[in-house]
Amino acid sequence: MSHPLHGMRIPPAEEVARMTREEKARLGAALDGVDLVEYGERYVPGSPADKRAERQVVRWFLLSGLLGLLAAVAFIWWPQQYQTAYAGSKQVLYALYTPILGITFGGCILAFGIGVIALAKKIAPHELAIQERHIGMSDEIDRQTLGGEITDTGQKMGLIKRRGMIKASLALAGGGLGVAVAVPLLGGFIKNPWAAGPQSELWVTPWAPVNGNKVRLVQLDGTPVRPEDIAAGALVTVYPAVPDSVMAGDAPVMLFRLRPNTPVRIRDGQDGFEYGDFYAYSKICTHVGCPVSLYEQQTGRVLCPCHQSQFDIFDGARPVFGPAARPLPQLPIGLDDEGYFVAERDFIEPVGPGFWESDQGSRPWGSHLKGSST
Ligand code: FES
Repeated sequence: MSHPLHGMRIPPAEEVARMTREEKARLGAALDGVDLVEYGERYVPGSPADKRAERQVVRWFLLSGLLGLLAAVAFIWWPQQYQTAYAGSKQVLYALYTPILGITFGGCILAFGIGVIALAKKIAPHELAIQERHIGMSDEIDRQTLGGEITDTGQKMGLIKRRGMIKASLALAGGGLGVAVAVPLLGGFIKNPWAAGPQSELWVTPWAPVNGNKVRLVQLDGTPVRPEDIAAGALVTVYPAVPDSVMAGDAPVMLFRLRPNTPVRIRDGQDGFEYGDFYAYSKICTHVGCPVSLYEQQTGRVLCPCHQSQFDIFDGARPVFGPAARPLPQLPIGLDDEGYFVAERDFIEPVGPGFWESDQGSRPWGSHLKGSST
């Protein structure tokens, strides 16, 4: 029997079975119309040059595996919580989080790629081949001899019986790369957000009283706020005066001082949440959680820059434009004995977006003009 394309003799199956791997590889190449002018190990196995090449490949794979594991460790344990500019070295660590992830994960992929290239250039068999192009599907004999070519290449590379270091480092690199890819996908499942029961983070915000004491409203640098600090028509972003509150996503609040005698609609059940002309609303957009803060004092509207939702501060922070479906939650405020603003209690409705939407999103809300009952 002869090959339909090249007219060469195809040995019978028993003869192919008796061939060495290299003979199968050469036969397969010949059947593909490939003339192997040079073919064989790059270096004498075990020679100094061979060991030097092996060490180079191993180094890259080890580096790749190490960087992959470091990326996973940094993702889980690096102190990445937001820190303000007042937090000193903590702020530096926070600022380094993204670069560290980029360097370790990117380096892992880069080192793995260089290792594969080094493997191909320094360990794979040296081969000089000439081939004529042909079209169409491979014949059965071609497919059979392909196995011989692959295993012979692996044999000549030493990956079947020798080069334990390369195999181990390649496994480490593949494992490190796999861990680095898997950790960001699975990382969100590590922490149980319901572990504290009714006091779980999703149920309470840092505005809840601490040991029965009402929480003060402070600016980013920790300065408490008094009514006389804010001009009529102004807006100040405030945080709860508890440790690390700036790192809580549900903490930022906009404190508005409306102009005197501005007609304001109060949402049902929220009478007295304001203090005089001062109104406090969550800064977290009820669409997907961006910070809302572009304020137009003439119309009383605040704009979320992400998807242009607008909320009417003169009407209980009701959404009047854009994709947001719920009003911004209002924080009940008052003054403490020293005349500083405090939160009377926590929000009475969920802050921001998320799973709350299924329960709260379609709930109607009513309102009435301040001072009236309708
Ligand atoms: S997050 Fe505010 S409009 Fe989308």
